[in-house]
Amino acid sequence: MPASWNTPLSEEPPTVGVVVDRETYTNECLESLGEATINVPNDTQLQLVYNIGSVSGRNVDKVSKFSLELVPSTLVKPPGLKGSIAILEGRVYDKILVGEVNFYVFEVLLTKVLEGVADEWSIDFSKTNILLHGAGRVFHRVAPTKIFAKKPQT
Ligand SMILES: Cc1cc2nc3c(=O)[nH]c(=O)nc-3n(C[C@H](O)[C@H](O)[C@H](O)COP(=O)(O)O)c2cc1C
Repeated sequence: MPASWNTPLSEEPPTVGVVVDRETYTNECLESLGEATINVPNDTQLQLVYNIGSVSGRNVDKVSKFSLELVPSTLVKPPGLKGSIAILEGRVYDKILVGEVNFYVFEVLLTKVLEGVADEWSIDFSKTNILLHGAGRVFHRVAPTKIFAKKPQT
């Protein structure tokens, strides 16, 4: 499932947090397996992402319906989505119940980044662009220009 409500959390151990509605099939899978891949989509995956988020895997085999191309994982059972800017292999580290959702904390066991589109600091936005969700059918890209803050005066 697409999950735009997500955030990096800690560096040691490396963790990310993802909000998952408790009624989703994804939540059911996480409850039983405790593992996932977290895929960072690029802007060419716009329609695919939107389509995947509009039906439930409980009723539809999304892999065949949307001809998803998958990449086998190294440390977890679920595969990744081919073409993603990055694929994070994660294990559930903690879970917090908030209202109608679970806030999952994943420990990132392995990160695979698409060849040639990022350095250790950042995505190279002249080579690819990230798909950022606004609301509903509205998405955004990042402007491919860097802006620098001045060093703080001491
Ligand atoms: C762009 C986008 C972002 C979404 N973000 C979230 C999210 O952060 N958390 C969530 O629970 N559902 C989110 N959804 C809704 C789920 O992706 C949607 O309910 C999905 O069909 C659930 O699939 P599943 O039942 O196979 O798990 C989002 C949907 C879209 C299209």
